[in-house]
Amino acid sequence: MPAEALLSVRDLRVTVSGGRAEAVRGVSFEVAPGEAVGLVGESGSGKTLTCRAVLGALAPGCSVSSGEIEFGGHDLTGASRRQWLGIRGSRIGAVFQDPASYLNPSLPVGDQLAEVLRVKLGLRRRAARERAVELLGAMGLHDPARVHGQYPHELSGGMLQRVLVAVAVSCDPELLIADEATTALDVTVQAEVLELLARLRAERGLSIVCVSHDLAVIAALCDRIVVFYGGEIVESGPAREVLDSPAHPYTEALLRVASAGDWGRRTLEVIPGQPPPAGASLPGCRFAGRCSFAEEACSAAPVPLTAHPGGREVRCLLRQEPVGRDAVSVGAGARGSDL
Ligand SMILES: Nc1ncnc2c1ncn2[C@@H]1O[C@H](COP(=O)(O)OP(=O)(O)OP(=O)(O)O)[C@@H](O)[C@H]1O
Ligand SMILES: [Mg+2]
Repeated sequence: MPAEALLSVRDLRVTVSGGRAEAVRGVSFEVAPGEAVGLVGESGSGKTLTCRAVLGALAPGCSVSSGEIEFGGHDLTGASRRQWLGIRGSRIGAVFQDPASYLNPSLPVGDQLAEVLRVKLGLRRRAARERAVELLGAMGLHDPARVHGQYPHELSGGMLQRVLVAVAVSCDPELLIADEATTALDVTVQAEVLELLARLRAERGLSIVCVSHDLAVIAALCDRIVVFYGGEIVESGPAREVLDSPAHPYTEALLRVASAGDWGRRTLEVIPGQPPPAGASLPGCRFAGRCSFAEEACSAAPVPLTAHPGGREVRCLLRQEPVGRDAVSVGAGARGSDL
């Protein structure tokens, strides 16, 4: 865990459907200044709800029922609407999938970017325009003055996503949340946007929380990985270690499915069976029903997330011994094909 976290999420619980179902069930993770953390897991595992909770932007009917979200030393859980306005878009930027839906189709993109600069930074009209053109250029868009005057329908998906990244970083945030930000783009454009995020991170010391189904994206950008399953974290740790030696059977399955060829280029495909529906209350491990190694004890009682050496955490009864590279140095022989 990073020593001085910029973002610290502790035991976060998010309910949906007006409180009827708990879809995020006690999620904790930290992001250090300049660090990139990847959230992975199947569809419906709670990644977006977690991101939206951190942004104070949950949809109606969804709410944080308990837990803490600390950002830059401030507890955001009880933040007022006004306090959120000073944080969201200013200190925490966000980019989502489908950039077109976040832009007004009837206004030139540059005007929309300039408007953010005027509202958030109080820039005058002319200064905002100049800064907008500068930002569009910094996002790698050719002829930024021309792009400034173009409407969303005149730009490609990759260009639109660059515009949204420009909006997201326009106020020089400390944290960028990229939720499936490259998913809708073709592979080449995806790589370019990824490169842009990596560059912004290096140049500005930006922290990033990156959600992706594409493990190549996570591997290229992230220092650490947090694996979600059924609203819980089942494993977390340094990206390379988790990808090289996954400890939780679910992570192993994810990587195995994705590694039928070169895991780095494949998206996460479906693992046989279904995850528990959001809000389903199970006495034990939420993955037990799909796990080929599950024993009776796995379904009997809640399985805690256990800390392992090297900053790894694993929620598995069968992985109580040290995991990953540390397992070798400790000599416990915890990882193996016996699971
Ligand atoms: N607004 C909502 N109303 C009701 N249920 C919701 C809402 N948003 C999310 N959920 C439910 O909460 C669970 C977690 O959703 P979330 O969007 O966080 O998943 P995700 O991990 O981001 O999935 P994906 O990879 O498909 O984006 C899902 O079961 C989803 O159906
Ligand atoms: Mg999502």
